[in-house]
Amino acid sequence: MADVLCVGGTGTVGSRVAEGLVARGVSVRCLTRSADRDGTSDEGVEFVRGDLEQPDTLGPALEGVSRMHLLTALHPREAQLGIAAVDAAAAAGVERIVFHSAHRAHAAPHIPHFASKMEILAALEASGVPWATIEPNHYFQNDLWLRRSLEAGIYPAPLGGVGLHRVDVRDIADATVNALLDDGHEGIRHPVVGPELLTGADVVRTWSERLDCEIEYAGDDLDAWEARAGRHLPDWLVRDLRAMSEHFLSDGLIATEEDFATMSHVLGHAPRVFEDFVRETVAAWSDGGA
Ligand SMILES: NC(=O)c1ccc[n+]([C@@H]2O[C@H](COP(=O)([O-])OP(=O)(O)OC[C@H]3O[C@@H](n4cnc5c(N)ncnc54)[C@H](OP(=O)(O)O)[C@@H]3O)[C@@H](O)[C@H]2O)c1
Repeated sequence: MADVLCVGGTGTVGSRVAEGLVARGVSVRCLTRSADRDGTSDEGVEFVRGDLEQPDTLGPALEGVSRMHLLTALHPREAQLGIAAVDAAAAAGVERIVFHSAHRAHAAPHIPHFASKMEILAALEASGVPWATIEPNHYFQNDLWLRRSLEAGIYPAPLGGVGLHRVDVRDIADATVNALLDDGHEGIRHPVVGPELLTGADVVRTWSERLDCEIEYAGDDLDAWEARAGRHLPDWLVRDLRAMSEHFLSDGLIATEEDFATMSHVLGHAPRVFEDFVRETVAAWSDGGA
């Protein structure tokens, strides 16, 4: 028996959500496509095999579960997979769903994975199951993928000059755990954002200072970005991420005063700052960490 099913619970955000739930004494089941992890447990988390592309695998995973954290990975049919999870949870009698969306997805529905989030939200609203959303800005932790480039003196990600209220994944997990376990969040779309508006130049300045070397910002050349991304990502994903990057360059991803006020109810502490994330990361890398 588990109290909460975490869909996406083996990933960047979901694994931290599972950890936070266990720390609050909740029993957690994580869905995974991995046959190797099926039936295993780790640090109080039980893993069960299931795949959103095979919705009949969801019923057994939902048995005995009262709440679900729903995080959908990027996928050309993300909306359909997320809606299948909402339907399965409603059929299983789940009493609360917290859905991992994206900050200001409604403002840019031409970006395919933002549009998917809005379609899944519509399914939640129609499901009759009490829900809340967590709507994070761009993760600080995306920069962990850039280690090799940073060490070669280049910051290659397209952030632009308008700015994003980037956020620490640990804050996203904290807010998600609170929305899953505490009262007062039903029907609320919670932005989860960092405290500062960060441009590409700001981010590069912080990395340069902490790595103690000159980093060049190369992010705004989207043709160069696309040529690099196209070597290892499928076409549909390159198109999706390019549309998002163009949006970042033209409009940024900016939190309002109302966003900060709404977030304060679910986060319960001040959001972490980018400089601390970079300092901790550089220290971990120096100690041989990943
Ligand atoms: N990166 C950002 O800055 C950012 C900002 C806002 C919102 N978001 C949103 O956050 C989401 C990504 O979160 P993340 O970075 O934590 O994801 P992630 O690290 O890529 O993890 C993906 C998770 O989804 C699971 N998964 C993938 N396909 C599945 C399937 N067919 N059936 C069941 N589970 C499946 C994976 O489990 P297994 O591999 O174990 O099966 C894994 O647990 C996306 O929806 C994205 O739009 C991202």
